[in-house]
Amino acid sequence: MRKIFCLFICITACFIWVSLSTAAEKNKAAKTEKPSKAGETLFKEHCSMCHPAGGNPANPKKTLKAKDLSANKITKAEDIVKLMRKPGPGMMKFDEKKISDKDAKEIAEYILKTFK
Ligand code: HEC
Repeated sequence: MRKIFCLFICITACFIWVSLSTAAEKNKAAKTEKPSKAGETLFKEHCSMCHPAGGNPANPKKTLKAKDLSANKITKAEDIVKLMRKPGPGMMKFDEKKISDKDAKEIAEYILKTFK
């Protein structure tokens, strides 16, 4: 009887462990997806009027597509954040008061992931 009880505890423990770890896994996935969603919203709010669908009607050689970005030596999220703080001619400046560092990074990651 004691053995069976032990076995029962073991099985229950295993079950709890498995369900906890899958829950943690799901949580992680939700967390990694969140930045891009916020990034998308922020991009639409601040950037898409001048960069519709990642384009650049004002300067067609400087779109947000990977090909143009890399041609202009923009390869990392930090490069895009820097550009937001100190933009080229025709683009408005976004300082920390307008877009926080965290939000700026999310926008940058959204751009790198979305426009290819
Ligand atoms: C008022 C219009 C305007 C807004 C708003 C704007 N941009 Fe721009 N953006 C431009 C123009 C114009 C250029 C080209 C500047 C140049 O000649 O260097 C540009 C260039 C860029 C580039 C360089 C692209 C390349 O291929 O060299 C990036 C990256 C960029 N913008 C990101 C953003 C982000 C991120 C936002 C929102 C936070 C934003 N822009 C909002 C007008 C705008």
